Amino acid sequence: MNRKLRCRVFLVIASVVLLSVGVHAQQEAPAKTFRSLPIRSRLSDPDAEHKIESLLKQMTLDEKVGQLVQYSAGTRTGPGTGRSDYEEMIEKGQVGSLFNLADAHAANRYQHIAIEKSRLHIPLLNGLDVIHGYRTEFPVPLGLASTWDPEVVEKAARIAGREAAADGVRWVFSPMVDIARDPRWGRIIEGAGEDPYLGSAIARAYVRGYQGKSLRAPDSVVACPKHYVGYGAAEGGRDYNTTEISEHTLREVYLPPFYAALDEGAGTIMSAFNALNGVPASANPFTLKEVLRREWKFDGLVVSDWTSLGELVPHGIANDGRGAAWRAFTGGVEMDMESNVYHEYLAELVKSGRVSETDIDEAVRRVLRVKFAVGLFEHPYTDEKLANHGPLPKESLDVARAAAERSFVLLKNDSVGSQRVLPLSGDLKTYALVGPLADDAGEMLGSWAGRSEAKDVVTLRRALVERVGTDRVKYAKGGEITKATDEQIAEAVTAARGADVVILALGEDAPEMTAEAASRAHLDLPGRQEALLEEVAATGKPMVLVLFSGRPLTLPWAFQHVPAVLEAWFPGVQGGAALVRTLFGESVPSGKLVVTWPRWIGQIPLYYNAMSTGRPAGNAVLSKPPSEGTEKFVSRYVDETNAPQFPFGYGLSYAEFRYSNPEVNAKTLSAKALSATLRNRQEDSKEVLSVSANVTNSGKVAAEEVVQVYVRLRGTSAVEPVRALKGFQRVALAPGETKRITFPLTAESFSIWDSNNEHNVEPSLVNLWVSPDSARGESVQLEITQ
Ligand code: BGC
Repeated sequence: MNRKLRCRVFLVIASVVLLSVGVHAQQEAPAKTFRSLPIRSRLSDPDAEHKIESLLKQMTLDEKVGQLVQYSAGTRTGPGTGRSDYEEMIEKGQVGSLFNLADAHAANRYQHIAIEKSRLHIPLLNGLDVIHGYRTEFPVPLGLASTWDPEVVEKAARIAGREAAADGVRWVFSPMVDIARDPRWGRIIEGAGEDPYLGSAIARAYVRGYQGKSLRAPDSVVACPKHYVGYGAAEGGRDYNTTEISEHTLREVYLPPFYAALDEGAGTIMSAFNALNGVPASANPFTLKEVLRREWKFDGLVVSDWTSLGELVPHGIANDGRGAAWRAFTGGVEMDMESNVYHEYLAELVKSGRVSETDIDEAVRRVLRVKFAVGLFEHPYTDEKLANHGPLPKESLDVARAAAERSFVLLKNDSVGSQRVLPLSGDLKTYALVGPLADDAGEMLGSWAGRSEAKDVVTLRRALVERVGTDRVKYAKGGEITKATDEQIAEAVTAARGADVVILALGEDAPEMTAEAASRAHLDLPGRQEALLEEVAATGKPMVLVLFSGRPLTLPWAFQHVPAVLEAWFPGVQGGAALVRTLFGESVPSGKLVVTWPRWIGQIPLYYNAMSTGRPAGNAVLSKPPSEGTEKFVSRYVDETNAPQFPFGYGLSYAEFRYSNPEVNAKTLSAKALSATLRNRQEDSKEVLSVSANVTNSGKVAAEEVVQVYVRLRGTSAVEPVRALKGFQRVALAPGETKRITFPLTAESFSIWDSNNEHNVEPSLVNLWVSPDSARGESVQLEITQ
């Protein structure tokens, strides 16, 4: 049976099972679960449940529906509903949540209406897109993930949550945990890249940071992983586009980061815009009811994405708002963000018998559970004195700088003469700084910039001038991001000619090109920046290209001709300071790519954890171009190599690292024993095998290296990726130092979603690599027996 068919059959069986659950609740069949175990909730509280039941008894149907309704009361982030009568609606108990208010006073004003004027005094839950900072802007999420440092991500999220909570925001629409394999998609910037293991680790870090030790603490915010699910797989990389994902890939690639975020305690989740295998994700009973509620036993709240319920009409699964409300609610969405269809039709659907009031009660319970969990019933207001309108505190700036430094990925660093271009010497007479992104404070904040302010940003130009003095910096903007005149380019060339080294700051326009509704069909430098680059390079001066982008860019000329290239993403308020420290070697680059960097758009989608084919072109990642005379009848292009420009996990350092002596501590494992471990909460994180290798810093400077471990399984019932990340560690090594790096692996590391649609460990041959990226390393082997 093919996967799609299996998926359908599974859906039919699932609905039959669900129906029978309704009739014989006590005979519930054991759930199939992705991780084999339900998530660990942080919402359950018997005292709150008691209060929720007593509130429910007092609520009218209209008041219940009101809890399921949410509107944007601030700057819009999508098409509007035309409503603005929120004050009146709140007074009548018709609104459960507002969002897009980033102002303590406004948040308190609305809250006063809810608490003092509505009949049951139920507080509003105030949400906002806090994506990579609130007042203190950190690197964009793709940059934060490139740190491979969950600790720094957690610290950044903690600061962001604290700052947002001070302004009365208690719910953040973050983290975006969508796996993205297509850099054309503008929102690839908002996530953690293409890998489910890394994506899960980063997702957990955000949730820990936002929700803190106690959700009830006034400086904690409830997290909302989004967009559930498959949004990042938009066909052609076009935002909002449809997606087709087999159940195998859904379970192994797209669902894990959501599971991780919820298992870490995230109290809410946002349903996505896209259709998934023909059913819009915001009305998809399989993902929302079968997986989320029945398998994972999620007891929190599902909010729709912006107007994604109303969009069920253009999707074509509803003919009008009433139909959309019915599909969405019965499909498993509790709160309607901005569509207005629950407000308009839900009560009527109950009265006509198409929706049961018992289901409405369950949805309301979920909303109230979150409100109780964040302590809104006891402390509905924020202390307006807490909001920071002054300078950013040193502690936050330090985290912002550390995060930025770790996020930079050194893509290339060749020698000019006997010396590598980077780090730069501080003793040169003049430094030319060229490019539209060298001094653009606003751009450094990236997209979804919260309440951050350009005045807080240290640009590259400012930091360089502070470092070497105005007289030694020859700055020429060289035009805008999207356009330049011949004169501007000529001026830049003159600046370069008169300097000892050129630093070029080129890239994309963050909010316009690397955000929601900002997909690109061309991944080159916009405007005339390629001409600027090539003309400046023609001066023959040593040169460093600093790239600011929200995705990999296809720049074959630059990668061939420019000796040093540093990817800086959009690095946040401390971007310039972090860059100058990196360029001059006080900080050593240690970021690694979290997305495969293609050579050409024609290779997309290109990701490291691909399935093998029956005709593999060698290692899919390392295959040679056809001109090198390899076999014709294999999976490849006739006019391009399969290999990316840079593989997933790649990133250079000013030091050099040698890997040696890989070893496993067992040669066989038992599939049966491992499968049992997967299903036991006490044992699921138990070490079942360890793999280790020596890593030596053979360079001249102390540096950190992100050591990675990958697995390949052969002989399984379903095809598994040619490599899959199963662990990573950031290791500090002094020059000449060797450390033995050991990775404890769990049963999960060897588990697959098998051909019976079960999560299991199967007999297989295993290759394990401890390596600096996804394309290198020597593998060790073992066998998983029956
Ligand atoms: C985006 C979400 C966001 C929401 C609210 C939507 O357009 O897709 O990511 O959370 O708006 O601003």
